[in-house]
Formats: sequence, structure tokens, C-alpha cells
Amino acid sequence: MLIRIGGSLEGKVGSSEITPKETFLNRRNFLTGVAALGVGTLALKQVPGLLHPDAVHADTKLTTVASKYTVPDAQTPFAKATTYNNYYEFGTDKSEPAKNAHTLRTRPWTVQVSGLVKKPQTIDIDTIMKYRPIESRVYRHRCVEAWSMVIPWDGYSLGEFISAMEPLPSAKFVQFISASDNKNMPDKPGGYDWPYSEGLRMDEAMNPLCLLTFGCYGEVLPNQNGAPIRVVSPWKYGFKNGKAIVKIVFTDKQPRTLWNEISSNEYGFYSNVNPTVDHPRWSQAHERRIDSSPFPKTVPTQMFNGYVDQVASMYAGMDLKKNF
Ligand code: MTE
Repeated sequence: MLIRIGGSLEGKVGSSEITPKETFLNRRNFLTGVAALGVGTLALKQVPGLLHPDAVHADTKLTTVASKYTVPDAQTPFAKATTYNNYYEFGTDKSEPAKNAHTLRTRPWTVQVSGLVKKPQTIDIDTIMKYRPIESRVYRHRCVEAWSMVIPWDGYSLGEFISAMEPLPSAKFVQFISASDNKNMPDKPGGYDWPYSEGLRMDEAMNPLCLLTFGCYGEVLPNQNGAPIRVVSPWKYGFKNGKAIVKIVFTDKQPRTLWNEISSNEYGFYSNVNPTVDHPRWSQAHERRIDSSPFPKTVPTQMFNGYVDQVASMYAGMDLKKNF
């Protein structure tokens, strides 16, 4: 396999497509700042009250551009989106990732691209981040456990990254493998076949809605939300969106996914948000919307999480009760 650290993505873009210098410099400053301050600063940010938020804001801020992908729903406050998380490597209780994920070192970080692809390579995260302007997109975020949030995510379409890697025509699926080393994640619970693994069909991964995500709320992703790189496919249940990705593998077969292996009748490969297909243990017709209210309301769940126009055609002719 060809191993190249950095550089290769730049060679693939025309000058008009390169991230504007100002964006790049701001991001460089941010990265230098993070490196100089060390991971401790990011860790402090995750403990509410220890440090005034403005004190770290300059070091974590991303330069983003507006996006056409947005929803009018009221946004979930940053404090809730970053303290109520699913990230089992850092604990199975929703409050645990915010307390424990400070052990994750997000620099240096590389992503290995392999499998059925013309350009297998290992790429530095900072090269990936500056390949395209980072858009701020407001998406509905629906968990399979029937709660939901509305989050401004920052990233660019995964399809743009995939195209640069030049997958072979035989590549039908793409697998995302998360970090799982003991140094970064010393207290991973037993009973799970780590690393966390998820996958998408190739056309799903190429759908422009599917976001390669580096930040949220205009800031670099907090560790508990998947730093330094995660996927967000907003028409699917949240567990399809692997956090802290270290490997992207192009395959001709449906890849293993952690939750599907644990319980295939509960967590299907597709996992499209579908109010007419219940989880065996609860209804999926409604969701508890976590917003700024102290008393979250229950709202009806929408087909494909409200993204029918953008994604329904990919499933034309498929039995969605069977392929749940
Ligand atoms: N990725 C990893 N590596 N480990 C996890 O436990 N949980 C998934 C997904 N990605 C998970 C993961 C689940 S179940 C959900 S609902 C979303 O992350 C939660 O994302 P959030 O915490 O940013 O809301």
C-alpha cells in the first residue's frame, strides 16, 4: 500500500477550489494555538465551569461558510449537545463521554484510506480539513433511542473526499472504523467488539447531505462529539455516524457494523429514520426533542428524518421494512 502523509489532496484541486488563504491562515492559527496549549486546554473546555468559555473560544473556533443545507427547527443548545452523548468507548451513560473523553489525543491524527480504491493513502487530519471550505449545516440528529437534537455541524460533503480517493468501480460500500487504542480510551467497557465500525452503501456515502464533520457550533468538535473527524448522515439514526475515525475502507461487501453484530434484529445496516418501522422494544413514531426547554416536547418523527426529497430516490423499490 502506498503511504503518504499529507499533500496528496492539494494536488487534486484546482486553484479556484482551494480554501481561501484567510480561511487557511485562521485554521493554521487555531491549530498552532491548540498545539501550543496542548490537549489540556481542550479537556478543560469540556468541564463546565472550570474555564470561562470565551477563554478557549479563540483556540477552538473554525472558519466556516454558510450552507444551503439547513433546517428551520430551533437548535439544541451547545451545552446540551456536548453533555448528553452516546460514545460507549468513554462510558455507557450519556453524561460520561463529556467527563471522560479528555483522554483522547486528537493530534497528531491520520486517517488511513484503503481497500478498493485507486489512491490508498494515509492522510493527516489537517490536510483533510483544508481540502474544502468548511460549511456550517444545521441538521436534525435523530438517535435510535427516540430522542433528537438540532445541531449546526461543520464540515464538507463526504462525497468530495471520496471522489479525491478515486474508488474503483467494484467498491460498493464504505466502512468507517473508529479509534480504539487503550492509551486514548483506557476504560472502554468490555462486551463490545471494538473498534466501533459503521458503513454506508456507496451511493449513500456520495449523497451530498452526508457530511465529513470536523466541528459543531462553529468550533472544532469537542472530543465527546467525535473529534477530530466523524461522519454525519442526517437521514439515518445517529449510530450510523462513527466518531474519531481512523480508517476508511472501500469494499465490495456490506461491512461489519458494531451494533448490527450485537443485535441484528434491532439495528439494521440501513437504519434510515422511519416512523413506520418500530424498534422491537419501542416505537419510532415519535421523538423527544432536546432543545432549550427544560421540558423537552415529544414531536412526530418524519420519514428519513425530514430529508425525503434528498434521499428517498436511493431506496426506490426497496422494502424498507425488510431493509430497515
Ligand atoms: N461512534 C463511536 N466511535 N462510538 C459510539 O459509541 N455512538 C453512536 C454515534 N457514533 C458512537 C459513535 C450513537 S449511538 C449516536 S446516537 C451518535 O454517535 C451520538 O452522537 P452525539 O453524541 O454527537 O450526539
